[in-house]
Amino acid sequence: MKNIDSRTHIRGESIYLDDIPLLQGTLFGAAFGSPMAHGVITNLDVEDAVRIPGVVQIFTYKDITGINQIGGIIPDEPLFADEHVHFCGMPIAFVVAETDEAARSAVKKIKVDIDPLPVITDPRVAQEKGELIVAPRSFVLGDVDKAWQDCAYVFEGVAETNGQEHLYIETQGAYAIPKESNGIKIYSSTQSPRATQQASCKVTGLLMHQLEVEVIRLGGAFGGKEDQANAWAAMCALSTHVLRRPVKYSLHRIEDMAMTGKRHPYSSDFKIGLNKDLKIIAYETIFYQNAGAAADLSPAVLERTLFHCTNSYFIPHVKAKAYSCRTHLPPNTAFRGFGGPQGMFVIEAAIAKAAECLGVEASVIQKKNLNKTGDEFPYGQKAVSEARECWEKTELVYDVTALKKEVATFNAQNKLYKKGLSFMPVCFGISFTNTMMNQARALVHVFTDGSVSVTTGAIEMGQGVNTKILQVVATVFSISPENVKVQTTSTHKIANTSPSAASATADLNGKATLMACNAIKERLIMVVAEALNVDITAIELKDERVCVNGEQCDWDWKRLVMAAFLKRVNLSEHAHYATPEIHFDKLREKGHPFAYHVYGTAITIVTVDCLRGIYEFDAVKVVHDFGATMNPAIDCGQIEGGIVQGMGWMTMEELIYDKEGKLRSNTLSNYKVPDIYSVPKVIAIDFLQTENDNLAIFRSKAVGEPPLMYGIGAYFALRNAIKSFNPAALIPYSAPMTPEKVLLALYQKKEVTTTHEQAAGHMAIPS
Ligand code: HPA
Ligand code: MOS
Repeated sequence: MKNIDSRTHIRGESIYLDDIPLLQGTLFGAAFGSPMAHGVITNLDVEDAVRIPGVVQIFTYKDITGINQIGGIIPDEPLFADEHVHFCGMPIAFVVAETDEAARSAVKKIKVDIDPLPVITDPRVAQEKGELIVAPRSFVLGDVDKAWQDCAYVFEGVAETNGQEHLYIETQGAYAIPKESNGIKIYSSTQSPRATQQASCKVTGLLMHQLEVEVIRLGGAFGGKEDQANAWAAMCALSTHVLRRPVKYSLHRIEDMAMTGKRHPYSSDFKIGLNKDLKIIAYETIFYQNAGAAADLSPAVLERTLFHCTNSYFIPHVKAKAYSCRTHLPPNTAFRGFGGPQGMFVIEAAIAKAAECLGVEASVIQKKNLNKTGDEFPYGQKAVSEARECWEKTELVYDVTALKKEVATFNAQNKLYKKGLSFMPVCFGISFTNTMMNQARALVHVFTDGSVSVTTGAIEMGQGVNTKILQVVATVFSISPENVKVQTTSTHKIANTSPSAASATADLNGKATLMACNAIKERLIMVVAEALNVDITAIELKDERVCVNGEQCDWDWKRLVMAAFLKRVNLSEHAHYATPEIHFDKLREKGHPFAYHVYGTAITIVTVDCLRGIYEFDAVKVVHDFGATMNPAIDCGQIEGGIVQGMGWMTMEELIYDKEGKLRSNTLSNYKVPDIYSVPKVIAIDFLQTENDNLAIFRSKAVGEPPLMYGIGAYFALRNAIKSFNPAALIPYSAPMTPEKVLLALYQKKEVTTTHEQAAGHMAIPS
């Protein structure tokens, strides 16, 4: 079935925050952000700003009616700076004016004096100074310290990945409207209506029942609106609460890029040990996460880095330690993969290093170490593995022997163009790592005309979750999709939602929908059973008809619904779903945190122009574990998008903060994201449809985040291409691999070490 939003999207009729018709009297907000990354505010001068015609009020921390705090996991994030500023762009004031233009002109007139304090942008420096967001975490399996003795080869190194701008097409924003008795309704572009409601309540001092958050849909989010939609909503709510007028703030792209956090950059150390057969015996790693100036979701992201530190591989002895380091950047946040990709890059770098030092293809080591069903992850859960099936099917359906031969022949025949090929296996755990968050609710109403309305906590952000939820309803009642409407998401209809995140939204909300529909269906079947005097087991709903013992009777869906209504049978249901079987003990760092894992393998082929350093991707070919997909079109769309987004992170998106903590890559002219021309010429997706039971909705496995990590293959394909031009190149394990870096590596004569490698004196030490 097609995405139900495609028609209105294509006609330009879909409604986003900025399309909501404005109420008369609406005011416009704009935030004034700190021009410095760290310091003490000595003077804030708003005199010129208030004089701009149309300015109604300028809010600072002094005007907050509740508390100046929006931190989610840890209360360490003021909405407005009081005395201190901790990052460039940190909101200091919020101008509210009669027009958008007045608000923004006023922001430009605000002057602030700040006594500078030292700025930290490097997570390793922060760690040395003890600037940690939370205590470090460690996952341990087996005994690494002993295991090194059994290794024939040991290699060490440093791996670094940069951050990533979310670049959702719709920027952040909110629109708050006053309601009677001090109430407020907020339209917000948020992945987490509950979190937005809670933050706005804290700041205004309202109770949650007084403040509703409603979301129609988002123009993309990718994790960027899981926590960071809250500030703008809270600012609008505060000014609406004080002024009793509607207030809207929709960020300009440049404000959005400067003020919001991004994917966490990581710098990591690794040490990997293999035996003579190239089995990985031991793996040790230390992650330094660049959290930015406040916790935001960093502790949870850190945790997922640890969960995915061995990717798809079984390694018997593992020690992984992770530091969440406080720096003076905007608080970094959720981004598709949620720390998982950062952890996976490091193990892939370690394997690549081993392979390069030993003179074997990385894929030989990768394949030998893929996990099998029953293998234990470092966090205690046992694998139900599809890793080998995906890998082997990839070799088969894409004829890897022929592909490798093509690449070798091309490279032998061409001096100035070289191809590179890589394998990227992926294993991603599905569930919020915080067990508590794995719950959802659905509210289903069957109307007397036979149409059905469903509301859940799920946010539609382009990923197609509404279509999947609609499919659940249509399937259970066996009615046409036209008879089902997925309503907007609202905290007053479905309370206490988890964010639409962790790839788990369709599973959690879909399961709750399934439960609600099944409950109504049971009652409907009772009605027919009584009326026709047959056993309930004889009755089936099929194609809007009632069937008795497999034969259509003269009751159709509408008659059934009306009969139930006349008998005063409840045609509505509110259901609650909590993922069974999952648990995690943070003290022991062991448990069973994931409902299941999603597996896959990608082959990436690139062609590098060795004169210029530029490159094009010939193909990304994947075998992906879908379970039993309920919507191939939507799932393929997620995979294609994920691959390109992951490749962007790995190859071209170069986030640059200077030493003063200022974002230099602050516009789309100096921050390059993949466009249609950077999409690989071929993206092939092969379905691994599995029979194994799983906890996914209709056994259709989650698909949001896992494909992003196929993009990591792009970095390693580039490495391999460079190596065939300049075999001596010792290229740092540092992403993104921009054309500039490729060019340097192509002509590099001796080892280029990163500054961290120089400082730590890291060397390859084959033992
Ligand atoms: N994944 C993604 N988003 C999240 C998670 C998670 O595990 N926890 C909180 N938000
Ligand atoms: Mo997402 S990174 O699970 O919002």
